[in-house]
Amino acid sequence: MIEIRDLYKSFGPLEVLKGVNLTLEHGRVMVIIGPSGSGKTTLLRCFNLLEIPDRGSLTLNTVKLDFAPSAKIPQRTVLSLRQQTGMVFQSYNLFPHMTALGNVMEAQVTVQKRSKEEAKATAMVLLGKVGLAEKAAAYPHQLSGGQQQRVAIARAMAVEPEVLLFDEPTSALDPELVGEVLKVIRQLAREGMTMVIVTHEMKFAADVADRIILMDQGVILEQGTPQQVLEQTKNPRAMQFLNRLGREE
Ligand SMILES: Nc1ncnc2c1ncn2[C@@H]1O[C@H](COP(=O)(O)OP(=O)(O)OP(=O)(O)O)[C@@H](O)[C@H]1O
Ligand SMILES: [Mg+2]
Repeated sequence: MIEIRDLYKSFGPLEVLKGVNLTLEHGRVMVIIGPSGSGKTTLLRCFNLLEIPDRGSLTLNTVKLDFAPSAKIPQRTVLSLRQQTGMVFQSYNLFPHMTALGNVMEAQVTVQKRSKEEAKATAMVLLGKVGLAEKAAAYPHQLSGGQQQRVAIARAMAVEPEVLLFDEPTSALDPELVGEVLKVIRQLAREGMTMVIVTHEMKFAADVADRIILMDQGVILEQGTPQQVLEQTKNPRAMQFLNRLGREE
């Protein structure tokens, strides 16, 4: 289970998160939507301490962290929390000098100290899962954007994280490649993977999410089931955002 309580984060004078509260049960999918600059990426990066919040608390299973401007989080706590999270970025960030197989093996060998044989076997299973077993020997530049993103998903899963975090996983892709990546994420949702996904793909959000969070200016405007947030909100700002999206589609 993931729980965030009263989370605050500023960059200098700019207050970006202003008291965020949320809970995500194991095996559930949370989708975060909201206008540009509302703090979605910052919130996601707080989940694995790529950003250290100023105040509030974060619980991931048995690890509970309380943040305060004066308190320094021990590096081993940061590492133990990161090992429980897998992050998939907008721009895949694969290691360019490693094959697809090498990319999915890397953290297993360096972080988890698995043997090469074991890492390779796991990597092949995961590449199969994302439909890329036959591309194991290809380097990133030999793969399409959608294929690279699927390798990035396999890589994030390789350390068996408690939760997968996605920051707009399809927004850098050509439209015809979006579907293959969303399909992989949908499949993971069906298998019970716990996930937090920032996306602008509303149709996808509506059918993959157990819970939708609509952020605006550093606070959660609305949260609930897709139906509650996307169809039944009475919040004027939420309605304005959703209407604008509707017109763009
Ligand atoms: N490292 C940083 N230093 C200073 N300001 C930052 C930093 N990261 C984010 N910000 C600012 O914080 C605010 C929220 O940014 P964030 O990236 O979380 O928004 P977002 O909701 O993900 O937007 P988008 O939909 O455009 O990705 C923005 O005003 C941004 O400029
Ligand atoms: Mg963002």
